[in-house]
Amino acid sequence: MIGSKFKFAQVLGVALVAGTVAYFGAGLVAGQPSGPPALDLDEDLVARGAEIYVASCAICHGANLQGVPNWKIPNEDGTFNPPPQDVSGHTWHHGDATLLDIITNGGLGDNSLMPAFGGELTEEDMLAVLEFFRSYWGPTEQQFQREATLREEGAQSP
Ligand code: HEC
Repeated sequence: MIGSKFKFAQVLGVALVAGTVAYFGAGLVAGQPSGPPALDLDEDLVARGAEIYVASCAICHGANLQGVPNWKIPNEDGTFNPPPQDVSGHTWHHGDATLLDIITNGGLGDNSLMPAFGGELTEEDMLAVLEFFRSYWGPTEQQFQREATLREEGAQSP
């Protein structure tokens, strides 16, 4: 009796796995993965942003945008360590205007470790870096950030 119950569970498990594969597989074949579509990124801009990132940002934010562990925990002097810019961070929660402001003027607070790049990089350079960040995000983060950008633009116009 115990043996046959075990077999039943096994068969059910295999059937569930097969069903799941068939379900998601069908979605992919039909070109309809769940969630929003990915943005159509400007590859030239991504490449330019990557160069700028490697030259000016990677030393703190990491070669793979991974940031520094414990970036959420303040240091003894109240400063924070460089956050990741991949999906595990919260850069993608902010619209372009907010991010350009941080990159141009440095981090918030008097003793932020995030330098101001306004004297070094043009706005175009910074937008290229943001496009490079987007290439690391999934469609969900890309769309979220795009909507945040549109909201900020809407808030600025009269
Ligand atoms: C000397 C280290 C350092 C360098 C170099 C640096 N950053 Fe930062 N960055 C930080 C720190 C630390 C923070 C955390 C915010 C704070 O403390 O104000 C930060 C925060 C940010 C944020 C805000 C992230 C968020 O989720 O709100 C952005 C965007 C950012 N950096 C972009 C850049 C870009 C782009 C470059 C290169 C042009 C760069 N950083 C170079 C240290 C650095």
